Amino acid sequence: MGFTVAVVGATGAVGREMLRTLEKRSFPVDEIVCLASTRSAGSTITFRGQEVLVRATSPEAFKGVQIALFSAGASVAREMGPAAAAAGAVVIDNSSAWRQDAQCPLVVPEVNPHAIKDRPRGIIANPNCSTIQMLVALEPLHKAAQLRHIIVSTYQATSGKGHAAVEDLKAQTAALARGEAVHPTVFPGQIAQNLLCDWKPSAMEGGEGYSEEETKMVFETHKIMGDPTIGVSPTCVRVPVVNGHSESVWARFARPISVEEAKELLRNAPGLILDDRPYAPGAHPQPVQASGRDEVLVGRVRRDFVDPNALNLWVVGDNLLKGAALNAVQIAERVIAE
Ligand code: A2P
Repeated sequence: MGFTVAVVGATGAVGREMLRTLEKRSFPVDEIVCLASTRSAGSTITFRGQEVLVRATSPEAFKGVQIALFSAGASVAREMGPAAAAAGAVVIDNSSAWRQDAQCPLVVPEVNPHAIKDRPRGIIANPNCSTIQMLVALEPLHKAAQLRHIIVSTYQATSGKGHAAVEDLKAQTAALARGEAVHPTVFPGQIAQNLLCDWKPSAMEGGEGYSEEETKMVFETHKIMGDPTIGVSPTCVRVPVVNGHSESVWARFARPISVEEAKELLRNAPGLILDDRPYAPGAHPQPVQASGRDEVLVGRVRRDFVDPNALNLWVVGDNLLKGAALNAVQIAERVIAE
């Protein structure tokens, strides 16, 4: 038996990956419902070799839908998520709209799959891309040695800000190559040959000076790990990469953990690939290698020079796949297996 599945934001960077991921993983889809804004209504998208009409998102569009994968931003999710749930769909939302809601589980299947079942609103939240790949890498170490503090710096790709942001990077890069000035259209400044912190200021209480992206990593880690005592110190940075987020992670545990023990744990963990090569120039996980891959790549596992309880890691993942579309589809797979 198959399911009627809707993708909300089907024309967007993540929505397109959701469709591809459903195809690639042979998710049992009987009918696909592609929804977007009124701007794209009437256009078509190819799914499993067939042209599918894109329709405008409305409460009526969810009639008969059993699984609704949302990636159309927080305001659409806030407005349409409950409508889809009321129509009988299990909603899996990639935006930040429902992540902090105590009645919506926030799930990384490798970390807290048990949380999926308890969803009184019928809405499951997909975490932020940066949080997902960090926790896939840290969970096996946490299980063994109990995380106490994470210091993370991110190197985030432009695709995380949507399709138009990638176009902005490309146009800026081309302008610089022609010796012309850049005219940013999506980013708040030059991203080509530059770094930016382009997120809104955090509105979290006590989060003064942090960006929204940074405090998301704090809150989401606590909720997913079920432990608000884990320290999280994030700095989020956008880099002129098309796709694939990288993270420099320092993690301290409740007990000493050796590099060898950590590597053994990571080698056998789900959803990741340990890059065990010794350090050499260029021999480490890179965004161009992670882009298009399902697994999170973890490398450069190093001891801390001072603290025997701490390790340094380099974590790279496809922010559109494991950081968004794939994680959402993996949640959907668990929902239909219930
Ligand atoms: P559209 O293509 O019609 O604008 P991205 O993250 O790549 O920018 O994509 C955002 C996705 O969210 C697109 O599919 C976009 O559709 C969709 N979207 C934006 N606004 C709305 C809206 N008000 N209702 C439904 N979908 C929306």
